[in-house]
Amino acid sequence: MIYLDNAATTPVDPQVAQVIAQSLGEDFANPSSLYKIGAQTENKISSARRQIAGYIGAKEDEVYFTSCASESNNIAIYGLSMARKNWANKIVTTGYEHPAVRKPLENLKEMGFTVVNVNPKADGNIDPAEIVDAVDSKTALVTLIHVNNETGAVLDVKSLCEKIKAKNKRTVIHIDATQSFMKTPIDVTKIPCDAMAFSGHKIYAPKGIGGLYLKKGTNIKTVMAGGGQEKGLRAGTENIHYILGLAKACELLNGNIKKNFNHYTKLKAHLLEGLAQFDNVVVNSPENAMPYTVNFSFMNYRSETLLHFLEADEIYISSGSACSKGAASHTLSVMGVDAKRIDSSIRVSFGIHTTTEDIDTFIAALKKASEKLQKVKK
Ligand SMILES: Cc1ncc(COP(=O)(O)O)c(C=O)c1O
Repeated sequence: MIYLDNAATTPVDPQVAQVIAQSLGEDFANPSSLYKIGAQTENKISSARRQIAGYIGAKEDEVYFTSCASESNNIAIYGLSMARKNWANKIVTTGYEHPAVRKPLENLKEMGFTVVNVNPKADGNIDPAEIVDAVDSKTALVTLIHVNNETGAVLDVKSLCEKIKAKNKRTVIHIDATQSFMKTPIDVTKIPCDAMAFSGHKIYAPKGIGGLYLKKGTNIKTVMAGGGQEKGLRAGTENIHYILGLAKACELLNGNIKKNFNHYTKLKAHLLEGLAQFDNVVVNSPENAMPYTVNFSFMNYRSETLLHFLEADEIYISSGSACSKGAASHTLSVMGVDAKRIDSSIRVSFGIHTTTEDIDTFIAALKKASEKLQKVKK
């Protein structure tokens, strides 16, 4: 199997699975219980929280565990906006957010907020000045996707946060770091954001665990009320097993961010070299995109058809065309890409296990598929 869809999800690292399996056997006590074994599970959660906080320059009590990045985004976006609605009614965002941000913003619009979307240009990049320009005295929240999940387009969040705060220091900034967490260094002591969402299953932990960084002292309304866990921000008995698994996944990646980045850079160069032999390939990712996500159109072939062709050879990629599971690529649409190019778009996303041989096999399979499909067309 050649798995080239690591932006969608990643396999669980065996060392992470081992930590979880051990915890499933040992850590059954409710961390809220007052007796000794409850305190023991609570201590293990604290130590995982401290460890993860340390990797992003945060303090232990600034990291909250959730079930996924969608939940983290929802908690932050609703909670931060609602806490400011007595003085502010504007939210600024990019036009290419993930639905986990886009959908809550649509709901907030119905609740009376004005949402300003800053779209990317044809090259896939957003002009950061347009984001800063949109911020005014009534802006409650700016929410930004750090690395776009479809094209790998990246925002300079440090510079953006500095400029936004200089314009309105009361505006809070949330970052959706789902596609950048543990893939590029993130240090919240240098990036003046107030909140940041991340997810476990993009970094070799299981589905069902995520996190939210929330700067200490940030005013937020609770949208997930209940038993008061996670300092009242996210009710629900903590998933200690997956929390420990997430900490292990972060530990395994944290020391290797640079090495992995270089690995992805080599893989991307190799892929682009392979794609250069086809005269019908148009690259949709910006040139300066993160190297682990490459979006391109294999013109004249519907990506969904190609996806199923490749699947027969156990090669897994993602398609940007409209299919039964969803609408056509939102990011490419707001870039102004025409429908035909969107319908032929493919996303290849590398993982730590991807090799140059995998890329060679993928290119050979692409060649085979296009030859076969050409014959069908004739
Ligand atoms: C940028 C971005 N934000 C949010 C999410 C949602 O993550 P999760 O599946 O953990 O809810 C994803 C998942 O693909 C994503 O890529």
